[in-house]
Amino acid sequence: MTPPSIDRRTFLKHSLAAGGALLVSGKGLSANARSQDPATASVLDAGNVRFPGDFLWGTATSSFQVEGAWDEDGKGESIWDRYSHHPGKIRDGSSADIACDQYHRFRQDIALQQSLNLKSFRFSTSWARIQPTGTGPVNQKGLDYYSRMVDALLEAGIRPFCTIYHWDLPQALEDLGGWPNRDLAVYFADYAGLLAKHLGDRVTVWAPFNMPETFTYRGYGNGWMPPERANTDDYVRAIHTVALAHGQAYRSIKAASPQATVGSAYGMEPAYPKTDKVADREAARRFHALHNTFFLHATRHGRYPDVFVGEVPYETMGFRSGDEKILQVPLDWLGVHYYCRLAISAAAAPALPKGGARTPDPMAQFQVGLFPDGPRTDGGLEMWPRGLYDLLMQLTHDYGPIPIEITETGGVFMDAPGQDGQVHDPRRIAFYREHLIELARAMRDGARVRAYHAWSLLDNFEWDKGYSQRYGLTWVDFKTQQRIVKDSGHWYGRVAATGRLDT
Ligand code: FCB
Repeated sequence: MTPPSIDRRTFLKHSLAAGGALLVSGKGLSANARSQDPATASVLDAGNVRFPGDFLWGTATSSFQVEGAWDEDGKGESIWDRYSHHPGKIRDGSSADIACDQYHRFRQDIALQQSLNLKSFRFSTSWARIQPTGTGPVNQKGLDYYSRMVDALLEAGIRPFCTIYHWDLPQALEDLGGWPNRDLAVYFADYAGLLAKHLGDRVTVWAPFNMPETFTYRGYGNGWMPPERANTDDYVRAIHTVALAHGQAYRSIKAASPQATVGSAYGMEPAYPKTDKVADREAARRFHALHNTFFLHATRHGRYPDVFVGEVPYETMGFRSGDEKILQVPLDWLGVHYYCRLAISAAAAPALPKGGARTPDPMAQFQVGLFPDGPRTDGGLEMWPRGLYDLLMQLTHDYGPIPIEITETGGVFMDAPGQDGQVHDPRRIAFYREHLIELARAMRDGARVRAYHAWSLLDNFEWDKGYSQRYGLTWVDFKTQQRIVKDSGHWYGRVAATGRLDT
């Protein structure tokens, strides 16, 4: 089968057509959208994009998805260990017990990054490796692992970027009630402070959470991921604990390591109204505020945006006087993941409480889908590079010129080694090239982006999809642990070396 190639002209045509219906709010955005009229905008393409020499090119991974060694050297069980060991939960029947075996192969994986000229590595630490039950004394062997990895990164000239929590909650803390239990904010801040105390002499870039909107909603709101609870009261309690944890961790990190800079890595899917109807435009605006910027808003205002059905459920959340001060923190930078845009329309019926909860599910206000315009990745998501531009311009308009790091972008392309032993994945190259052109446009138009992390360095364990979705710049044979840099990885390495896309 010949893979569909991404035709830039098609992208631009569709993007410009969609421009009028964009986005959610913001006069600045529509001005920018207008400035993309080909008649007035200077055209950026792969031939003339030049990224600054100090731009940080990197990749991202997460502990559970790559490390393996799930019970080695004193590591405790996480909710993802428990879930993935339960038969039937993972699509291909696999587990992450070995994954990419990075726990034993981190030096090889760092050498790989160095060979690709990469300058930033976004990894996450496993809480249960460091504190097996989530509180109490440090498991020295677990901490030593990250310490050795950080040293090896620095020796290779690669900036270590530490995400403190990428979904693998110690099971012992879930047994205490999980994120709906407010005590977890304190435990998390202790864990974050501990990390900063031991690694903060070398790590300066910290993200307390990866995609707080996702693990709270899917973990507690609709039960799609562990701990598989589906109760909106638990969900709103969880978001409040996580927002408190973020504020408290921000402070404990800075107290332990004065040179620390703290941001957070938010998963953002730009919300476009499905139709031009007022109700759909309003739905897209609310969805953006609930899904994309909810936690960011809390860091700015110490309150939550008005995106619930009825009042913000402060009482159910257990919001106490003084919490607003804990939530408010001046982020040093903003981390953004971009995978695809979403088509949002208003739900046909009003959302009502269910399952014994008092709070109606705020997501039930929307119908969420994909647009049919762009080509699809092998994972089924629409490729829409223009969404990255729109999102960055919207954030720059709404949040000012804060430094931004692209913390993840990528796509599933299942290309495998050919007869020559190499992995030819032209669609992934096209995917990154088109997204980087949109990124360059956003930077030209005022977005202060300083780093880009491709998801991911390696094919890895893609949560409940197991090994059935390959996102890597590097092919991994999960039986032998052989790594083969894909064509896209070699291409990305040349981009990192030159700042050019026409390499
Ligand atoms: C992101 C997650 C990451 C990975 C990619 C494909 O949402 O942060 O762990 O699963 O999607």
